[in-house]
Amino acid sequence: MISNHQLRCIGCSSRIPGDQVASDFRCTACGSLFEVVYPWSETQSELRDGQAPPSPVTRSASVPNPSALRWLWQERRTSSLAIDQSGVWRFRDVLPIVRDFDQVVTLREGNTPLYELPRAAKALGIPWILAKHQGMNPTGSFKDTGMTAALSVAAERGFQWVACASTGNTSAAMAAYAARAGLRSIVFIPEGKIAWGKLSQSMDYGALTLQLRTDFDGCVRLVNELVRRQPIYLLNSVNPYRLEGQKTPAFEMLEQMDWLVPEHVIVPGGNLANSSALAKGFAEMRQLGFISRVPRISIVQAEGANPLFTSMRENGGRDLTPVVADTRASAIRIGNPASWHKAVHALQSTGGWCEQVTEAEIALAKAQIGAEGIGCEPASAVTLAGLKKLVADGRVGSEERAVLILTGHILKDSDYTIAFHQHQLLRAEEEAGLTYSEREQATQLRKPPIVLEPNADAILRTLDEQMAQVSQAI
Ligand code: F0G
Repeated sequence: MISNHQLRCIGCSSRIPGDQVASDFRCTACGSLFEVVYPWSETQSELRDGQAPPSPVTRSASVPNPSALRWLWQERRTSSLAIDQSGVWRFRDVLPIVRDFDQVVTLREGNTPLYELPRAAKALGIPWILAKHQGMNPTGSFKDTGMTAALSVAAERGFQWVACASTGNTSAAMAAYAARAGLRSIVFIPEGKIAWGKLSQSMDYGALTLQLRTDFDGCVRLVNELVRRQPIYLLNSVNPYRLEGQKTPAFEMLEQMDWLVPEHVIVPGGNLANSSALAKGFAEMRQLGFISRVPRISIVQAEGANPLFTSMRENGGRDLTPVVADTRASAIRIGNPASWHKAVHALQSTGGWCEQVTEAEIALAKAQIGAEGIGCEPASAVTLAGLKKLVADGRVGSEERAVLILTGHILKDSDYTIAFHQHQLLRAEEEAGLTYSEREQATQLRKPPIVLEPNADAILRTLDEQMAQVSQAI
């Protein structure tokens, strides 16, 4: 298949060929962002809430029917070809963004597990919760699925240098994929505000790492200026090719659920691109006749970085006022999210909600996910914390199925995890916001290391105490 896509402005609907987009990925007429459209796809914005997809779908001969594709996508997993093993490129039939698929830059991303969280479900009083763990990607976050797509476009278009502003995960993914492709990468990160695990990755993968004395939003301003002045390819999520890769977990999730559509998908909200990528994936699956309805996509923000939550509450998503962001979930410490229009559309077209959660709620939810033997980074845990609110007021019904998107691996931010278990993470007034039973739950979940003399008797005494506590709890 050849690259046969266009870019469509989400503001003024103008369409341009992919290679004519400005270096900052903004429409030169109206300043809005673009989305990728194909001859066979209806765009997300054309599928309004409640509106049935046009039928029959106009399919070009190069897009086989759903049952053939379902079979082909599964079959490719057993192939020895890198593009078939990739959980992004095995869906390449609905991802024709490059001319030559043999040249794509892949680390065999995607194909991530869908786990059950039985204890969290029991605590919430619902039958089950599933977690799609995007932290199980090669660099430990969901960014890999987007990066393989956009970096492959950068390489095909002959760029030597790529750049991004990042709270840490985008930069780790970009640096890794650039290294694989033999390109040079420049990372802009806010000094002192990203987790060490992520910073160490971009150094090891050979990026030029610039730590700026500003926040993420300040880094975005500077990287935008840089790409206007130099032939450097921008790999932030304003780049619509990133979202083409990030839509594929929607396909995988449907496959993993035998093409049953969950009622709810819950995602963390930071720069607000991923929610719309997943919404696009589900909309395309409906458009192509794989599924007959889409799940509600809900977005959860940290209370200290909640511009979308505030915008939805105050004006239904018509305007967004940037905030100065502050949360320990550093991945989503973003006050001026670039893709908020797309996120509002994802909420409105799927019937989802935007929620906010406190620092204490995030910490507790993260420990609960850890206690299931799975774990995630703090930003991912907002999903479980947000789901609790949606269940509490009936927006998620007791018989409905919810899938949490866990966006990053537990090892990304081990300082946070250790501080929680040593009871040094939250201030007393933050913890006071939890209910009594939540505070009890947090106490049960804390497992700080116990320092002992190297002496068998001392160890046995401690074990006896621990075993007595466990039998009391039972
Ligand atoms: N979860 C994690 C672990 C992230 O790293 C991010 C974003 C998000 C959620 C939010 O996704 O921006 O699409 O709403 N991290 C970016 C970065 C900003 O630079 O790594 P979003």
